[in-house]
Amino acid sequence: MCLGNICRSPTAEGVFTKFVHEAKLADVITVDSAGTGDYHVGEAPDSRSMKHANKRGYDLSSLRARQVDASDFTKFDYILAMDSNNLSNLQRIAPKNSTAVVDLFLKRFGIQEEEVPDPYYGGASGFEHVIDLVEAGSIKLLEEIKGKLDSKNVGSSL
Ligand code: 4NP
Repeated sequence: MCLGNICRSPTAEGVFTKFVHEAKLADVITVDSAGTGDYHVGEAPDSRSMKHANKRGYDLSSLRARQVDASDFTKFDYILAMDSNNLSNLQRIAPKNSTAVVDLFLKRFGIQEEEVPDPYYGGASGFEHVIDLVEAGSIKLLEEIKGKLDSKNVGSSL
């Protein structure tokens, strides 16, 4: 989850989707991204995000921006925000019946840089940095989900 859903969160969606496929968990984990703002709804990711992601093996070209809505809070187990502004917005719009973990993506996993900085008004290094950070977060997120899936499977086989 980010502001525009054209830079940070589509990058995270592309990276995490690849990790999930590599872990052969694509049929049990649904990955999506959205923005807290509606400025870019329907647009493809920023061409700079697509270019940098592509160079590192992630294809964002089929993604289109959408805005988060109330149903996301019951549809998804995790709604992870790229920065604290987005987190506050999510907490403000979360419906009473929300069942999702709503948290800061990097901080949740103890990554020292707690927020993914918005690369929109900066240069190429900002876009590379977004990929570095979301790769680090995605490794941890996948570990956490795998742990939960394992404990569920152990429970159901007893
Ligand atoms: P994102 O980046 O939240 O990572 O998608 C931004 C994209 C667009 C704008 C701000 C941030 N904007 O102000 O248009």
